Amino acid sequence: MTANAFPLNPLLTAFSASPTLAINEKVQALWAAGHEVYHLGFGESRFPLHPLLAEALAAHAHRTAYLPAQGLPELRAAVAAFYERHFGLEVTPDRVIVGPGSKPLLFALMQALVGDVLLPIPSWVSYAPHARMSGKRVFPIPTDPADGYTLHGDRVAEALAAARQAGGDPRLLVLNSPSNPTGRMLTPEQVAELAAFCRREGLFILSDEIYALTAHGSVRHVSPACHYPEGTAVVGGLSKHLSLGGWRLGVAVLPPGPFGRRLMAAVRAVAAEVWSSPSAPVQYAAIIAYEDNPTIRDYIETCTRLHALRTRFLWQALAALGIPAARPDGAFYVFVHFDHLRSALARRGVTTADELATYLLERYHLATLPGSAFGAEAGHLALRLSSSYLDMETAERAQALLAASRLVSEEEWLSPAHHPATHAALERFRCFVEEVR
Ligand SMILES: Cc1ncc(COP(=O)(O)O)c(C=O)c1O
Repeated sequence: MTANAFPLNPLLTAFSASPTLAINEKVQALWAAGHEVYHLGFGESRFPLHPLLAEALAAHAHRTAYLPAQGLPELRAAVAAFYERHFGLEVTPDRVIVGPGSKPLLFALMQALVGDVLLPIPSWVSYAPHARMSGKRVFPIPTDPADGYTLHGDRVAEALAAARQAGGDPRLLVLNSPSNPTGRMLTPEQVAELAAFCRREGLFILSDEIYALTAHGSVRHVSPACHYPEGTAVVGGLSKHLSLGGWRLGVAVLPPGPFGRRLMAAVRAVAAEVWSSPSAPVQYAAIIAYEDNPTIRDYIETCTRLHALRTRFLWQALAALGIPAARPDGAFYVFVHFDHLRSALARRGVTTADELATYLLERYHLATLPGSAFGAEAGHLALRLSSSYLDMETAERAQALLAASRLVSEEEWLSPAHHPATHAALERFRCFVEEVR
């Protein structure tokens, strides 16, 4: 039988092997060979499962029936109240849909909405594949490392004009604040400006706010839905601020009014035909995560404070080594670049971000992700470093670090006594910079 006997959908075969997977495979191989690898490539919040959530999940293990495709009504009511309490959005439960993670909800929205996509660069790895799998063209909105990859309104306008000139039909703008990979946030003024622009131009905003509750406190999180509710879908979930990625629980808040209802019907159709509903016990347990529970609220604040401390520490320590990065305002990422060492790196055969990530992994056992995975130009020697995994490699280490944070000062908590892997990774970066210079 020839390879082409059963042709495949070209929308799905157009993807090249992901550098993310390539790096992870190399990390696994190094681990299997007994090497110490400093995993800054893994963007997973690893704080322990809160006991109240563990209890709630156990208490609902007997929930074996299917739930409605849009989600458990009690959970949707809690989610609506959560968005009002935290972000001042007036949300009714009929505008909320619950999915198995925010990722499939983002994909369902891309499937449901017509038009091409304007995508700020760099941005999270899955938006462009979601768009292309949905038959959309992706038009990048460039940003500049020199001003911390700030998304400027005039750049959005230029990208829109260029997309139209190239025969595209851009109708969607993806926003992600705090951002993966940069940790940057849009200021309230920028959000207002972008929302007004999108309303004027008839662009719909897909606002990925999965990191909203991991904002470090330097910038106030404002949703574009506060300004432009009729043209914004807000997406969030429990993966980041409650370290529950494996629970697969995401939510989307769709616009009010007749258009919002039609969009909900389309997204709900994807849900009903593809995943039916997220796991029932998880949905029941998630109610407490969305309710105004003071214990859970304190826990989220603690985890966010600790993420902020670790991320800021990494950022400042790298800056002290002469490795520039945009100041992270949220999440647990530092997007560094080595463009200033371009010629010295070229002499070592490193001319792209992928090659740089491979070099650091093979020679220094530093696992990172190349900026190219986030749409940045290959020649921009950028890497995304995640602070979330180091020194929290196992559940025991994560538990111990959380316990120590209650006993010692912040300074001591960040010292090598409690963060040996973070300090060892920084030492390797120091050696790398020294070798290259
Ligand atoms: C920016 C961003 N959006 C969405 C997701 C998907 O999260 P989940 O599907 O676990 O809700 C991630 C996960 O890494 C992310 O970084």
